[in-house]
Amino acid sequence: MEDVIIFDTTLRDGEQSPGCSMSLEDKIKIAKMLDEAKVDVIEAGFAASNEKDFKAIKEISKVCTYSTVTSLARCNKRDIDLAYEAIKNAKKKRIHVFIATSDIHLRDKLKMSRDQVISKIREMVSYAKSKCDDIEFSLEDATRTDFVFACRAINTAIDAGATTINIPDTVGVMMPFEFAEFIMELKNYSRLGDVCISVHCHNDLGMATANSISAIKCGARQVECTINGIGERAGNTALEEVVATLDTRRKLFQVRSFVDTTMISKLSQAVCDATGSVIQNNKAIVGRNAFLHEAGIHQAGVLNNSLTYEIIDPKKYGIFHDNIVLGIHSGKNAIIDKMRKLGFNPDGYLIDDIVFSIKEYFQYNKEISDEIFRSIILEHKCKIYNKNN
Ligand code: KIV
Ligand code: ZN
Repeated sequence: MEDVIIFDTTLRDGEQSPGCSMSLEDKIKIAKMLDEAKVDVIEAGFAASNEKDFKAIKEISKVCTYSTVTSLARCNKRDIDLAYEAIKNAKKKRIHVFIATSDIHLRDKLKMSRDQVISKIREMVSYAKSKCDDIEFSLEDATRTDFVFACRAINTAIDAGATTINIPDTVGVMMPFEFAEFIMELKNYSRLGDVCISVHCHNDLGMATANSISAIKCGARQVECTINGIGERAGNTALEEVVATLDTRRKLFQVRSFVDTTMISKLSQAVCDATGSVIQNNKAIVGRNAFLHEAGIHQAGVLNNSLTYEIIDPKKYGIFHDNIVLGIHSGKNAIIDKMRKLGFNPDGYLIDDIVFSIKEYFQYNKEISDEIFRSIILEHKCKIYNKNN
């Protein structure tokens, strides 16, 4: 079974998304949690972008004992020097060098020719390598890059010392089958297969996790992702989705990650707290509804055997709340279950009447508290008492 490296960029790409900036203390707290969760690589920031990032990377480098710490750097000496300066005290360190390779980025952003980009890659990857053994090189906007030029850029970076080559779908335009074919072709026509293949997918069309997983099937052995999928625009591949997929479908992929899944719920909450962001209710793994059942038919199944409607054990991801929630679609089974959980013995009650009252309540309300549920049950107890006396 081969290992997949989980590269977390919550503190860099994630933090770059609008409204998601984090305090130094929060970044250190999240990094410590990622380290404890055995995330392989933590991209702690972009050292050259601002002083706060530099400081955060420096502090995070001191506290991580398991994870490799990396900083992003553009292809210039100042960025690489600052990146190295920030990570130099880390137990395990990496410099992540990148340059855009697509024609649109070359023409409208970098104002460079292809030959100039190739020279920059050669010079700057070699320079980074002279400072640090572990070098990752990213071809920004790889999926919109001319194929032959992408192969040239990859080979140049490998010759200059890169040990990981990252293929980002920067604008999130790929389809899973298309991205898989792209990775396979790059392996066939460049030396990509000689190094660790990494992917970094954005979620503009909602394909980030699917694309990353397709790439793993084609030999990618590093996935760049963020907690809760935060990141530029529609976000990045969600760490929790990749880890859960590889674990749940292990036989299919024959690869594993070492991430401690029981930390995922806490990490998700910590990122929400630090960024002030909220997670959509139906978000896989960490959304409020990911393991909740309100519909009567589903509740009847799950109360007998959770596998009827759940493929994942929520406890494995640090989620321990009750999986049954009462609502207008709930039936007898769930109401009896709730009565038992609140200490009532359902045998002494006219359950059909209680179901009727609860459904009535949900005509005007979306949720029911334990107190109100209890008061409805007690009301029925009184009715039975009054009838019998
Ligand atoms: O989306 C992207 O291309 C990036 C690179 C810098 C890796 O974030
Ligand atoms: Zn990105």
